[in-house]
Amino acid sequence: MAYNDLRMDNQWLPFTPNRSFAKDPRIFVAADGMHFTTHDGRQVIDGISSLWCVGAGHNRKPINEAIKKQLDTLDYSTAFSVSNDKAFRAAEMIAAMAPGDLNKVLFCNSGSEAADTSMKVALAYHRARGEGHRNMFIGRERGYHGVGFGGMSVGGIPANRKVYGTSLLPRVDHLRFIHDPVNHAYIHNTQPVWNEDLLLELENRILPLHDASNIAAVIVEPVAGSAGWYVPPQGYLKRLREICDKHGILLIFDEVITGFGRLGTPFASDYYGVQPDMLNFAKAVTNGVFPLGGVVCTDRIYDAMMGAHGSAPEHAIEFFHGYTYSGHPVACAAAIATLDLFHEEKLFERAGEMGPVLGDAMHAALMGLPNVIGIRSLGLAAAVELAPIAGLPGKRAFDVFMDCYHRGVLVRNAGENLVFAPPFIVEKAQIETMVGTLADAIKRAA
Ligand SMILES: Cc1ncc(COP(=O)(O)O)c(C=O)c1O
Repeated sequence: MAYNDLRMDNQWLPFTPNRSFAKDPRIFVAADGMHFTTHDGRQVIDGISSLWCVGAGHNRKPINEAIKKQLDTLDYSTAFSVSNDKAFRAAEMIAAMAPGDLNKVLFCNSGSEAADTSMKVALAYHRARGEGHRNMFIGRERGYHGVGFGGMSVGGIPANRKVYGTSLLPRVDHLRFIHDPVNHAYIHNTQPVWNEDLLLELENRILPLHDASNIAAVIVEPVAGSAGWYVPPQGYLKRLREICDKHGILLIFDEVITGFGRLGTPFASDYYGVQPDMLNFAKAVTNGVFPLGGVVCTDRIYDAMMGAHGSAPEHAIEFFHGYTYSGHPVACAAAIATLDLFHEEKLFERAGEMGPVLGDAMHAALMGLPNVIGIRSLGLAAAVELAPIAGLPGKRAFDVFMDCYHRGVLVRNAGENLVFAPPFIVEKAQIETMVGTLADAIKRAA
């Protein structure tokens, strides 16, 4: 199919330079396993699991079949005051996989909705316990929690925030970013050990400034994904947990990227041995084939919300929140089939095994290339950071992304970074092709 056959006038593309796209469109018409087919019949390796979604690879029959079967059985039913069998089963499976007493799943449809949902739960929970004054949130610089006003406000990616001014939530502060470009530019499947305690700032400045008793929750991505795969210092998340506990603050892990196997464990929470009070998920839970997100809450949060209504009549709703498609039966059927497939094919273990293969390849092929100023790998994801072109932020990485695309490899450009996060089924030879193509493109962009 020539793209000239497609009308290009009607779609406004998300997070895409639309004007440049129109001159050189990149359109997929099919996908299977590790590869896309483009509109002009070329094969492109999906080096990013289609933005961290497609852990099991594309076109997986058990998931497709489950969706088709569900469509013929119960296509949809409203989620309010009634529910469906698949939503209960999916919630049970996710709760069983989630650490500790994270047992109550509130479904939504995306990571952005999960961010806003978790923030609303935090406010409602504190109010239910008589601490309605806890209405402030702490996010982190360069954090990404989607594009809703809540997630955007606690997020810390300047370009995503800059035009929204006072429409951002007012009661938000941000932790410092977790990257040290001097001492920890190169990270290879390790946890960087910092000489400095990054969280002293939280204890000594942020909490006293706002008074800890006013903080509802801290929300962080365990590993900063969208910013470009930045790894937390050793002990950071554990210490964050301790500080939150000390001050009665809820800790929310946004595991939209790290959830479901990316680090070789079900969640980053397992990898780091730190349990949050709420865990946000989306993306890989359905292998990306159907929109589904959610927040897993502790029993304690759920019980407090129910308990607060002990004196209310039983027909009273305890939490005024939800989406038309919360727990959509087709999405939940896709999730059940995906989680079964992850288990049957031991795909999280495979991600854990292939991670060092990717990390080795990235460090061996890219270290010392022109403009390379950092390489970070952890789990089955790795990023290379390039020196920016003065006055043209992101341009070098964008050019490299385009070059790779035209040579058959989809890599993600994020700021000055290029990130790989392939499906867990990736083979060593495919990693070599991906990384080799990236290395050549970086040389050409010099
Ligand atoms: C950590 C994190 N949270 C939230 C989101 C937003 O998810 P969605 O695009 O599904 O709204 C993303 C998307 O990449 C993400 O990486």
